[in-house]
Amino acid sequence: MTGGSPSANPGAAPGVVALRGPVLSFSARPADERSAGVDHLPDGVVIMRDGRLETVMAADAYRRQGGDPDACEDLRDSLIVPGLIDLHIHCPQMDVIASYGSQLLDWLERYAYPAELAFADPEHARSQCGRFLDRLAAHGTTSALVLGTVHAAATDALFDEAARRRVRLAAGKVLMNRHGPRALRDRTDGIDETAALIERWHGRDRLAYAVTPRFAIACSEDQLRGAGKLLERYPGVYLHTHLAEHPEELAATARTFPDAADYVGVYERFGLVGPQSVFAHGIHLSDSELGRLGAAGATIAFCPSSNLFLGSGLLDLARVDRAGVNLGVATDVGAGTSFSMLSTLADGYRVAQLTSTSWHPLTALYTATLGNARALGWDGRVGRLAPGHEADVVVLSPHPDSVLADRLRLASSLTDTVFAYLMLGGDAVSRTYVAGRPVYRREAG
Ligand code: GUN
Ligand code: ZN
Repeated sequence: MTGGSPSANPGAAPGVVALRGPVLSFSARPADERSAGVDHLPDGVVIMRDGRLETVMAADAYRRQGGDPDACEDLRDSLIVPGLIDLHIHCPQMDVIASYGSQLLDWLERYAYPAELAFADPEHARSQCGRFLDRLAAHGTTSALVLGTVHAAATDALFDEAARRRVRLAAGKVLMNRHGPRALRDRTDGIDETAALIERWHGRDRLAYAVTPRFAIACSEDQLRGAGKLLERYPGVYLHTHLAEHPEELAATARTFPDAADYVGVYERFGLVGPQSVFAHGIHLSDSELGRLGAAGATIAFCPSSNLFLGSGLLDLARVDRAGVNLGVATDVGAGTSFSMLSTLADGYRVAQLTSTSWHPLTALYTATLGNARALGWDGRVGRLAPGHEADVVVLSPHPDSVLADRLRLASSLTDTVFAYLMLGGDAVSRTYVAGRPVYRREAG
């Protein structure tokens, strides 16, 4: 991990941020801390200039090249990591997080759909989208794959607010024309509206479009066919949906598509399974379905807090890996119970324990950074701290006098340190930088 040429007092120049502290990111999926893909600088320098990472190197090396690490802001009690990436989150559900008392289909009717109906009001939608993006920043999430609502105007508001903040974001209007309250359904098939949104937003600034059928049972066959045609017409866009989350949903899918061999087969029939496809959950899949997802290069977004909260089931990470399926990780707020990707990884660790797998903390943190970036084809841009990358950076620092601070004093290795941040660090984000600009700074204390 090297790069960049030192200047005398980098932090003083406009458009420049210079930090010094422990730095951790990944260039490949690690099995443990000895793996080649672990880029760890116990005392490193990170310099961002004009939105990009200019220098990421050991403080000693920086000094040898004529730089002055003491001129950088001293964060040696912290951990500097890449901005976290959330691979599946519902913007309109932010305020129904932690709503009590039911499992998937009932939870949608009681909590999610009413919150989404309110996005028919563009003013409400705009203010919620701004709050949502600020909430992500406060949790160290600098990129996300986001579901909006069925409303095109609300989706415009989401993209617009993301563009103003210069966030790297993929999102889409939800397609649903036969499920949920009538007022929340597409009146036609929503395909022309989606095409217009793609034309308006895909590839603009740091934004990308994801064609977003809610889930198979919410869409007519014509609508799913239209979604597949959009993927053919606009090759760079993503496909983002739910898959095999809950047994009730599986039963409804089998009833709605009696001719399909299985759930993945429904999406395959309409051309929705490929390397640009992200399927949230993917818990209840056969070997054949997993094998086909793997062969297609599709990604499963593991949503552990949501899966525990709704009682949906335990994703078997080892089985997903054996099938060669790409794995991402996501909060799935509002069914997910935290905006924090660190807390989500902690829940992922617990789920792995219950399926007799051990999710190494470095593998978990890789998944929430470079792993999720790869799922979206954004590696080389974000997900890693290396010169030339976009400067999306997060600083983790324990609150003084916290359980985490005490635990970190005992940490005996990088693995131990990272594990403590995952298990105890849901509120450990102290700074977030997006494209080199500070977008969140925790109050002291
Ligand atoms: N399946 C279809 N819609 C949703 C949703 O909004 N949340 C979750 N968790 N699953 C879904
Ligand atoms: Zn979801």
